[in-house]
Amino acid sequence: MTIPQRPEADPARRAAVLTGLGTFLPPRAVSNEELSEHLDTSDEWIRTRTGIRRRYWADPGTATGDLAVEAGARALKSAGVTGADAVVLATTTPDHPCPATAPWVAARLELGPVAAYDVAAVCAGFVYALASATGLILSGVAERVLVIGAETYSGILDPTDRNTAVIFGDGAGAVVLEAGRADAPGALLGFDLGSDGSQADLIAVPGGGSRQRSGGNPPDPATSWFTMQGKKVFARAVAAMGGSSAAVLERVGWPRESVDRLVGHQANVRILHAVADRLGIDRERAVVNLDRVGNTSAASIPLALADAVADGGLRTGERVLLTAFGGGLAWGSAALVWPDVQPC
Ligand code: COA
Repeated sequence: MTIPQRPEADPARRAAVLTGLGTFLPPRAVSNEELSEHLDTSDEWIRTRTGIRRRYWADPGTATGDLAVEAGARALKSAGVTGADAVVLATTTPDHPCPATAPWVAARLELGPVAAYDVAAVCAGFVYALASATGLILSGVAERVLVIGAETYSGILDPTDRNTAVIFGDGAGAVVLEAGRADAPGALLGFDLGSDGSQADLIAVPGGGSRQRSGGNPPDPATSWFTMQGKKVFARAVAAMGGSSAAVLERVGWPRESVDRLVGHQANVRILHAVADRLGIDRERAVVNLDRVGNTSAASIPLALADAVADGGLRTGERVLLTAFGGGLAWGSAALVWPDVQPC
């Protein structure tokens, strides 16, 4: 689905504008070498097949909501504001099956009785949450929205499964969106979102939901781990992120060669390069920070944006293409001109 927007038609039209960016990583870094001590893997395999060198895992007692509060507070500080009208939280690892984590985060941030809900689109969650928050602003429901991607995958990884345990990390990233004009730097100029539920089993936590309960079977702890058929997912990730990126570029009228920074979901450096190749964008323009944080699912894009700004790889005025893909299958892309925002 491509959400129709015509920024060129009316630069003064109402838009959602990114005005703040904040991130938080738990303190415990886990190296490839540490994982190799108890898994049949190696630093060399992980680095060459994924690009990952380390990831962060939350300490016992730290949940997704805790990381989200930290990133959310930093994003508000980055925007120079203390309040928001709504909180949209993308996560695959909510604090509880019920209720959503976002209202608790809003309360911890002392935002008052604001709208707050979770978005479940796995690794595409942050782009889905951005689109949802943009909708709140364009419809006049909210003037300012805090959008957070936060995950504690360490709690759903099977520590004996080398296919997944080496890939995912914990963390949180957040942005503030405010009502503004479409010609302001930071305005979200267009989105493309899509899904393919016929491939739902490629990335899944099989147990713990109504599908399992409807079978009348007792809960089975073995079905509560995250599973991924990596090889099949790889090809679909490249195709979906490539197609979705092309769709959003067409929507906003940007030639592919005009994209300064491709900020893709940090799943695998080989996927990021393949998407860049497919789009005809120089690989050097693809932002890569998964070497430092691993695949942080819904937190991945804001963490990549913050690292890119910090290391000089993303500058004010540059054209940024965001694209993500994950379980669902679900994918999404968005375009914006990078504003004068310093991450906190
Ligand atoms: N350490 C060492 N060997 C490993 C390993 C590990 N951690 N994980 C898998 N292997 C082995 C496999 O068992 C296989 O061995 P075999 O050839 O003897 O059967 C071999 O390495 C190749 O496995 P394969 O799964 O084909 O590897 P790959 O090159 O496809 O890389 C992923 C695996 C998961 C890194 C890669 O497929 C990937 O990134 N997939 C997409 C992930 C993604 O985009 N997810 C969506 C968003 S979260």
